[in-house]
Amino acid sequence: MSKEQVKQIFQPNPEFAKNASIKSMDEYNTLQNKAIENYEGFWGDYAKEKLDWIEPFTNTVDESNFPFVKWFEGGKLNVSHQCIDRHLDTRKNKAAIIFEGDRGDKQVITYLDLYYNVNKFANLLKEDFGVKKGDRVVIYMPMIPEAAYAMLACARIGAIHSIVFGGFSAEALKDRIEDAEAKVVITADGAYRKTKPYMLKPVVDNALKGKTPVEKVLVIERNNEEVAWVEGRDYSYNELIKNKSGKCEAELMDSEDPLFLLYTSGSTGKPKGVQHNSAGYILWAQMTMEWVFDVKENDTYWCTADVGWITGHTYIVYGPLAMGATTVMFEGVITFPDAGRPWQMVQEHRINQFYTAPTAIRVLHKMGEEEPKKYDLSSLKVLGTVGEPIDPPAWKWYYEEVGSSKCSIVDTYWQTETGGHVVSPLPGATPIKPGCATFPLPGIMAEILDPETGIKSEVGEKGYMCITKPWPAMIRGVWGDEERFVKSYFGDVKKDGKAVYFTGDGAVYDKDGYITITGRTDDVINVSGHRMGTAEVEAAIKKHPNVAEVAVVGKPHPLKGEGIFAYVVLKSDDGVADEVEEVKAINKIIKKEIGNIALCDDMLFAPGLPKTRSGKIMRRILRSIAKGEEITQDISTLEDPSIVAKIADMVKS
Ligand code: WTA
Repeated sequence: MSKEQVKQIFQPNPEFAKNASIKSMDEYNTLQNKAIENYEGFWGDYAKEKLDWIEPFTNTVDESNFPFVKWFEGGKLNVSHQCIDRHLDTRKNKAAIIFEGDRGDKQVITYLDLYYNVNKFANLLKEDFGVKKGDRVVIYMPMIPEAAYAMLACARIGAIHSIVFGGFSAEALKDRIEDAEAKVVITADGAYRKTKPYMLKPVVDNALKGKTPVEKVLVIERNNEEVAWVEGRDYSYNELIKNKSGKCEAELMDSEDPLFLLYTSGSTGKPKGVQHNSAGYILWAQMTMEWVFDVKENDTYWCTADVGWITGHTYIVYGPLAMGATTVMFEGVITFPDAGRPWQMVQEHRINQFYTAPTAIRVLHKMGEEEPKKYDLSSLKVLGTVGEPIDPPAWKWYYEEVGSSKCSIVDTYWQTETGGHVVSPLPGATPIKPGCATFPLPGIMAEILDPETGIKSEVGEKGYMCITKPWPAMIRGVWGDEERFVKSYFGDVKKDGKAVYFTGDGAVYDKDGYITITGRTDDVINVSGHRMGTAEVEAAIKKHPNVAEVAVVGKPHPLKGEGIFAYVVLKSDDGVADEVEEVKAINKIIKKEIGNIALCDDMLFAPGLPKTRSGKIMRRILRSIAKGEEITQDISTLEDPSIVAKIADMVKS
């Protein structure tokens, strides 16, 4: 037997493949070869075919100032026009958004409704708040249709939105507002979770205390709970929207005008404002919807992400609407009132494509293994996963019980920075191996490279997941920090002497060329499919006055994928009795600085940390200890090698 585990292969359903947008591996290879032979032609043709240009572009790609790349220069368009106006002739009465609230309330928003709602919203921002092209608008919203209106209204007038996930704390919101220098915040009083109201506006109030660039706050009434009000700053959306005109001319945008910022964790304490621009981003959002989810005209598509993450941007709002699809938005919790909720929704809305995270699949599997059997899931055609590797038991259950062994599972690998999928199966073409993201999508030159030599990795040899040519939806910058942009993504790997984009992930080829993502190579951990910078969590913990030192690492977690493990060295160690209090106090700080999503799963009060003589903390050792592994690394170079055994004993006990 070879060392390589032989994986079972699942062929696409032939009935499905017949009508799929890409029907076979031959077709896939033809497309990818076309891109290899004539990269500009490949992308230029798609940009002409798929986008509704108000003025045509003159140059497909300009790489002369790499990594500052320009796509489709000279072209003018508007992303809200691409997502709404251009569908009105053929789809005005088609559902654009189907909304299901936490308490089961439902709303269908047609493309014509969407047009009016977005136009009114855009007029409000322009007329009442003076928002202009290029201004930054922070959106801190629950999962309600108004979140999509807000995004598209910004796009319509050329404002740059920056959505902050509703689970982030006031401090985290404040940092992002300040970094983007946002002048407006759009929020809601709150929303519902498990039928109970929860609040967002008070978090915004706290984030705006003291000096702030924010001049106006727009509050959407969702749960009608009482909220504090600052006269002259806070305005009710429900009041202002009443007398707005339903027509707002879409701003003429250059292909490379920024569309949005989205802050994401990196390997330093400060999140990065990832910038995406108009034409390239929307082109790839639309193309991947068509290729990877294979959404047809009469389909209903549901992605369970939150608009606060990139998945919600590209695959709840921009991608589906750009192609004229029907997208489901869900406010609630997928395990409430029980783990049958998503399957009940699939049955009721006759969902055809369902896209979620492995964490959600694991939880649904654990809490409701038999639930899918209770519902009619026969409408499903494609199942998707995103955010982290999917483990075999979860995959098997998803494939057999949810998809009745007839749906392809698309394990989509991508990142905030890539804008859309980059490595993924195509549901009508790719023979699937569970846990493999399989192959680069056509047009994406994704390769696993040896970080030292820049040569393509051998079969079975772990390398770095890189993308060797710019692609249209590629990150265009880190807001306000050119140097960080270049250093973070183009500093690690060179191919043929030229810097290439490095994702931060490790990956490996199998003998058939399939790509498996092995996880981050940097100090970013993946908690429930969400990126968390260990440095961010460390910075929060360090704010506790009794903390001398801290190191945070990831540790495998049965449901979350990875959990957060913190090693904390206290200034004064008053014994076990106080440790419980210290944990509480530290968690309170994490909650305040970042939010509940960064709370530690494990916290160990250590007598010291394994450090080199130059003072560098050896996280690799701490990761091994957290996993309960035997330490095989050479520890003789540590300042105090005995600390390793001490900590390991503490973890074991
Ligand atoms: C991880 C989410 C394995 C990876 C869209 C990446 C994955 C990070 C997969 C990006 C997958 C995403 N298999 N790992 N299919 N998809 N990842 O920016 O580590 O929130 O770098 O974007 O998630 O997370 P982000």
